[in-house]
Amino acid sequence: MKKQFKRYLITAALPYANGPIHIGHLAGVYVPADIYVRYLRLRGVEVAFICGSDEHGVPITIKARHEHVSPRDIVDKYHDMIRKAFEEFGISFSIYSRTTSDMHYRTASAIFRKLYDNNEFLEKNTSQYYDEEAKTFLADRYIMGTCPKCGHESAYGDQCEKCGTSLSPTELINPRSMISGSKPVMRETLHWYLPLDKYEPFLRQWILEENKQWKPNVYGQCKSWLDSGLQPRAVSRDLDWGIPVPVEGAEGKVLYVWFDAPIGYISATKEFTPGWEKYWKDRDTRLIHFIGKDNIVFHCIIFPAILKAEGSYILPDNVPANEFLNLEGDKISTSRNWAVWLHEYLSEFPGKQDVLRYVLCATMPETKDNDFTWKDFQSRNNNELVAILGNFVNRALVLTHKYFGGRVPPREKIGNADLEVLAEIPKFRKLVEDNLENFRFREAMKSAMDLARLGNKYLADTEPWITVKSDRERTGSVLNIALQITASLSVIIRPFLPFTAEKLERIINRPALTWDDAGSPDLLQEGHILNKPELLFEKIGDEAVEHQLNKLHGSLPAQQPADRTIREQKRNITYDDFSGMDIRTATITEASKVPGTDKLMQLRVNTGMDTRTVVAGIAEFFEPETLPGKQVCILANLEPRTIKGIQSQGLLLLAEDQTGKLVFVTPEDKVSDGAEVK
Ligand code: 2FM
Ligand code: ZN
Repeated sequence: MKKQFKRYLITAALPYANGPIHIGHLAGVYVPADIYVRYLRLRGVEVAFICGSDEHGVPITIKARHEHVSPRDIVDKYHDMIRKAFEEFGISFSIYSRTTSDMHYRTASAIFRKLYDNNEFLEKNTSQYYDEEAKTFLADRYIMGTCPKCGHESAYGDQCEKCGTSLSPTELINPRSMISGSKPVMRETLHWYLPLDKYEPFLRQWILEENKQWKPNVYGQCKSWLDSGLQPRAVSRDLDWGIPVPVEGAEGKVLYVWFDAPIGYISATKEFTPGWEKYWKDRDTRLIHFIGKDNIVFHCIIFPAILKAEGSYILPDNVPANEFLNLEGDKISTSRNWAVWLHEYLSEFPGKQDVLRYVLCATMPETKDNDFTWKDFQSRNNNELVAILGNFVNRALVLTHKYFGGRVPPREKIGNADLEVLAEIPKFRKLVEDNLENFRFREAMKSAMDLARLGNKYLADTEPWITVKSDRERTGSVLNIALQITASLSVIIRPFLPFTAEKLERIINRPALTWDDAGSPDLLQEGHILNKPELLFEKIGDEAVEHQLNKLHGSLPAQQPADRTIREQKRNITYDDFSGMDIRTATITEASKVPGTDKLMQLRVNTGMDTRTVVAGIAEFFEPETLPGKQVCILANLEPRTIKGIQSQGLLLLAEDQTGKLVFVTPEDKVSDGAEVK
């Protein structure tokens, strides 16, 4: 039997306060969380909806370094910006706090200290990468290198964003410091480790046996972590921004951001209510974490292990993580400014919060990555919100005003078909409910829209604008039913489209309906006075879409197939960095595709010094038989790498055009092989 809970504690991932919120964050986390919470509130359930800014960690300090300001300046700026944007967008947090609050410092320190006092941590001196120029250890994103799993050359010290693998700095091939660009050296440092291996049996039982109902993407990721065996994980860092490790002799060390951030949910609940303990320590509370897929391991494995070690907290009942949202076919990227920023949307589409909420819910990446396009935004607005929901409601209201002076007419003349329609209304509420309970947001919103579809079909079948000429009583009955549908709609669209629901509620002059009212055939009594109708939605024209697309593609000339933007210039290097690269002319002598891959080509090249093998990702752009005899440039002294079992001894220089096509960089005139490029 399903457990009945007394109250709900809903958390939404704390966004890093190092940049504004974009549609990827919204579709992944905040829109579903808000829909769920609004639904619970409508049901009269006791719920706390917790969020705040994640203000520690390397993402913040890197941004500060980039902008030549202090981390404090960064978090103050973005915390404010994010908080305001969420509020204006109607994300209805009970509290939006921040992890630099006093309460959070106290809470996170106390939990660390309790674990420390209970000997829960391993204390280890290990060798870690150190930047001798910048005089600092290089944690997480301060270090980059080649991913040992997929060969991506810009993997971070904590994760490869290309293949998603979680990494530690020592696993990177050819590591380099993100601060000075120098090659780091190893140096000893003391840290505290959470022995995740000790919690593995518990986590296996709790997740793999007791939570089989979690979404397959979440369950699957947890299973693969558990199956590859958990290792102790450092929960402290050598950084000067963060919560000091509350232990004697730990100067210069702070809590790892992923130790403190989830505790932020607890601190914020404390700030929200003095009765916070019932939310975190009573088994009758249902805790649900809304997050994106890159946060799964932290919320399903590491944070639960911390809570378990602490001993007095409940664990999440579910973690309905979403996949990622792309934009116009390409990954959302802050550095390339390939994003739709919430604060910009709000100022460019004033009063249209619900349109974005609608489109993001309809394209929510629930089971796989999904794509947002401005064309789809326009067509969902024009063909669904305007043509289905807006059109139905408007017709019901306008006709009632026109024929019955804005009063709900009696329902005296009805037949079987009308009774069937009345009987169908509650089914939609039930469908929305079932889908929401199972975190199927897209399907839930579609079920709500299906009620408006039913309304449109009903009006089309009964044609009150025709019957009014001959049968006023019949016309009134039809409009009465259309208005009952409208009233139910004002409730069931509310979690998804709160601004529209409020407007509709005002127009039908029937506030404070609750979830359970939806579906009743008698929400509006005969004679009830309606307010003047207003349009719920308006069409969005082609120019608005074009404007957004142009803005996205930046300054690219219009005739170019603008698939990519021009990337920012990379950080400066010294002349020595450049002269250390041995670039030579070489001629391709043989070429063949690497079996089992689409992109890779195996080449033999004569470098003047030798003939060697190089593997290059060019198979999509060239036929192998066209390549022998071609003169190219090669970075000859790149550390050899094994790709698909073939040792590649060098890198061919290629230029990538705006469409992603690769072409060789070749000398304008043929020169002898082995000529130095400088
Ligand atoms: O991935 C992120 O954006 C993190 N700031 C999420 C933190 S969620 C929580 F644990 F606080
Ligand atoms: Zn990788």
